[in-house]
Amino acid sequence: MVNKIKTCVFISGKGSNLLSILKSSRDYNFPINIQLIISNNPKADGIKIAKKYNIPFKYYSDIDKNKFEARALLELKKSKIKFICLAGFLRILSHNFINNFGYKIINIHPSLLPKYKGINTHQRVLMSKEKYSGCTVHFVIPKLDSGKIILQKKVLISKNETVSALKKKILAQEHIVYSQSIISIFR
Ligand code: GRF
Repeated sequence: MVNKIKTCVFISGKGSNLLSILKSSRDYNFPINIQLIISNNPKADGIKIAKKYNIPFKYYSDIDKNKFEARALLELKKSKIKFICLAGFLRILSHNFINNFGYKIINIHPSLLPKYKGINTHQRVLMSKEKYSGCTVHFVIPKLDSGKIILQKKVLISKNETVSALKKKILAQEHIVYSQSIISIFR
């Protein structure tokens, strides 16, 4: 594929989803190319991935939401980014940012949305004695974890499942479904 869509991944932490998308993007037919990584956390481990794979990155420390968004928008314009993937990005983007960017933004959330929006998902799922959980890739709108669903993966919750075991199980599915979702959007 010659004209891959110029993409930026937003991270705040480990960046395992970033790595999974990055690996997929090396495939000739994968529709996007990661050309920029933005972190709101200067200590995010995902920045090491950016360095290792030689991808331009920016991180911002201790700045408020407005400043962060203004700087990010500037970088996105400079790099001619036309698509954003949020991957473990722990901030809610404003209406203003989403409108100003003007292209598609997607996110991954570790639950079967619309159930369990927000944080501490796995704890809440276990407390509610759910039989299943999973992950969801969805379009980003100003309302938290509420945009149109692209794809979901379901996992069965075992007896005596712990938060960390469930997290690990779901993360493995996230790494599959994120790339599948990107393919399905641009097919
Ligand atoms: C993932 O579970 C993602 O769904 C959630 O935060 C976690 C981030 O993982 N939003 P990573 O930084 O991609 O490893």
